[in-house]
Amino acid sequence: MADYEDGTPVTTSYQDVREHLQQQQYRWVITGVAGFIGSNLLQCLLELGQRVVGLDSFLTGHRHNLEQVRDTVGPEAWRRFELIEGDIRDVSACNRACAGADFVLHQAALGSVTRSLHEPLLCNDINIGGCLNVLEAARLAGARRIVYAASSASYGDHPALPKQEALIGKPLSPYALTKYVNELYADVYARCYASECIGLRYFNVFGPRQDPAGAYAAVIPQWIAAMIGRRRLVINGDGETSRDFCYVANAVQANLLAALTDRKDAVNQVYNVALNERTSLNELYLMLHGLLVEHYPHLRDYQPEYGEFRAGDVRHSQADISKASELLGYAPTHDLRRGLRQALRWYMAYLGG
Ligand SMILES: NC(=O)c1ccc[n+]([C@@H]2O[C@H](COP(=O)([O-])OP(=O)(O)OC[C@H]3O[C@@H](n4cnc5c(N)ncnc54)[C@H](O)[C@@H]3O)[C@@H](O)[C@H]2O)c1
Repeated sequence: MADYEDGTPVTTSYQDVREHLQQQQYRWVITGVAGFIGSNLLQCLLELGQRVVGLDSFLTGHRHNLEQVRDTVGPEAWRRFELIEGDIRDVSACNRACAGADFVLHQAALGSVTRSLHEPLLCNDINIGGCLNVLEAARLAGARRIVYAASSASYGDHPALPKQEALIGKPLSPYALTKYVNELYADVYARCYASECIGLRYFNVFGPRQDPAGAYAAVIPQWIAAMIGRRRLVINGDGETSRDFCYVANAVQANLLAALTDRKDAVNQVYNVALNERTSLNELYLMLHGLLVEHYPHLRDYQPEYGEFRAGDVRHSQADISKASELLGYAPTHDLRRGLRQALRWYMAYLGG
């Protein structure tokens, strides 16, 4: 889709990619399809007329995520989806899922820093062994490209802000290490087998279907559930820890752009995916509280508590997104406030209260 007539690679816009997909049907594989980001990718691709095979073991994903996608896209689109219930640690499940695939969007992983500190062996098996199985299955199946979920955790202890892709420090958790190893493996697959791989370093993605329950829930859904459910809300540390929160539609956009870019210089790269904005936990709390208090009068007298700093956490995080903008045409459609409004609509509908 890019135009090389005068020798200058032209970046395809997200609008162009969406129009192309409405005309041309591909076969996509989404690992981790029953999870938060995976189910949002599924919904978008089915809405664009694509065929999707999903692979999930339901370790942290949920059947109700898939049921919501089914109810949203309707029966005609849903018939273009096939679910394989299986584990990415199982080579044969990966091979079955990837057979005949054009594009593989690899999202399955044990995605929590804290859980990786509690279960480093499981994290290693799934995030490294499983990812290698997916890379190999995609290669054997002759898939055109694999786009995989990398992480801002790979920046580790490097102090530079905003984060630029080339400058990374030492990993601060088993999770961070596994995500960096994914990038190394993708690079090796590109060199040794001419696989086309693109890594997306997501920064604190949030939105509909992100799990609010359990000890490993991410901050935004955890806080929303606490406020709606009148439970205590604990801010880790002094609340000045900051993050570049990214609405899931922006992450979906990055996946589609990465899968379909024709720019040769855009392939076999990793990209930051966020907004290039930094929001402290204290600011996030005030925004969420301000948006929710309109709907929940009990929040007028609500106060957060402050707890310990969380082990393995980086203090500040902010993405330089110029590489993704220049090479992929990434242009986030949702800033934090717009994303929070969308997400809250969903949580209010599904958590009730
Ligand atoms: N959400 C974020 O802010 C964020 C940030 C950086 C990176 N990521 C990465 O993005 C990806 C998706 O994250 P998410 O937030 O949607 O998490 P999620 O937990 O909602 O989704 C992960 C999915 O993978 C599945 N899965 C886990 N282990 C599996 C296995 N062995 N075999 C098959 N399926 C398995 C789970 O059941 C789940 O459906 C992960 O790779 C995560 O590390 C997420």
